[in-house]
Amino acid sequence: MSNHHRFAVVTGASSGIGVAYAERMAERGYDLILVARRRDRLEDVAKRIKIKTKRAVEIVAADLADAKDLLRVEALLTEREDIDVLINNAGLGALGPTSKVPADALENLIKINVLALTRLTHAVLPGFLRRNSGTIINIASMIAVMPTPSGAGYSGSKAYVLNFARSLQMELAKTSIIVQAVLPGPVRTEFFEASGLTTAPFPDELFMSPQELVDTALQALDRRELVCFPSLENEVHWTTFEDARIALSRALMQSGRPATRYSEDTPS
Ligand SMILES: NC(=O)c1ccc[n+]([C@@H]2O[C@H](COP(=O)([O-])OP(=O)(O)OC[C@H]3O[C@@H](n4cnc5c(N)ncnc54)[C@H](OP(=O)(O)O)[C@@H]3O)[C@@H](O)[C@H]2O)c1
Repeated sequence: MSNHHRFAVVTGASSGIGVAYAERMAERGYDLILVARRRDRLEDVAKRIKIKTKRAVEIVAADLADAKDLLRVEALLTEREDIDVLINNAGLGALGPTSKVPADALENLIKINVLALTRLTHAVLPGFLRRNSGTIINIASMIAVMPTPSGAGYSGSKAYVLNFARSLQMELAKTSIIVQAVLPGPVRTEFFEASGLTTAPFPDELFMSPQELVDTALQALDRRELVCFPSLENEVHWTTFEDARIALSRALMQSGRPATRYSEDTPS
């Protein structure tokens, strides 16, 4: 990542992981554009970071689930030539058994976790391609590879984030643009409360702080580790998963005919 007065945009920068990214990116020499709905919170974060790091910090109060607000943020990303890093962090869980979660809450989740992340990524790409530089960090979740009965929408949305990022990595492999997917485990933030739960469904020892999470993910980025499971001790679990996925991909490309097991007991 270059840092010659370049801006990093952080969505969801009013609490939790987004605040930690904002702090660390400023410490790394980036000026900031912070996006979230709660203007007062953004102002507090901006003030603190400006005093501590002397970086420029702009705030954009926007509801990323609102089409007009989203277009406003997209326009900013499209028009500005000084944006070097986009951190798509804003997100929420809408957790619970699917039939008990209001349909509107699921739609809201998809708008933020999937639609906004996709449109904001799409908005920065032309400039990044023109300049052949830029970094996109997409915050997924370990739940992307752990389908769960109390977070179907959330798990699905984060699987999207992972596959979207990985497909982009392949598409952009011949450029200098970097796309990283970060898949945190539980992190101590307002997430579970915002997702409608009074207690988090994980034991305390599984939680890390937002600062630990961001420091780990940025260290991974520096090493060009583009899929980062910050708490995964033994990487073999991921490489084995990947090997199995590649083997399945190859097997799926071998024939377009119905597999023989489906014709064996077809009633005549
Ligand atoms: N905490 C965890 O255990 C955990 C684990 C894995 C992944 N993650 C992911 O990490 C990311 C950050 O979550 P967090 O843990 O830091 O939770 P958080 O403390 O609840 O922060 C969520 C952020 O998203 C913003 N946001 C929510 N709805 C928005 C909207 N409609 N428009 C604009 N901004 C919106 C919130 O700002 P406003 O309310 O001010 O709009 C807030 O800044 C999410 O993508 C989450 O899925 C979290």
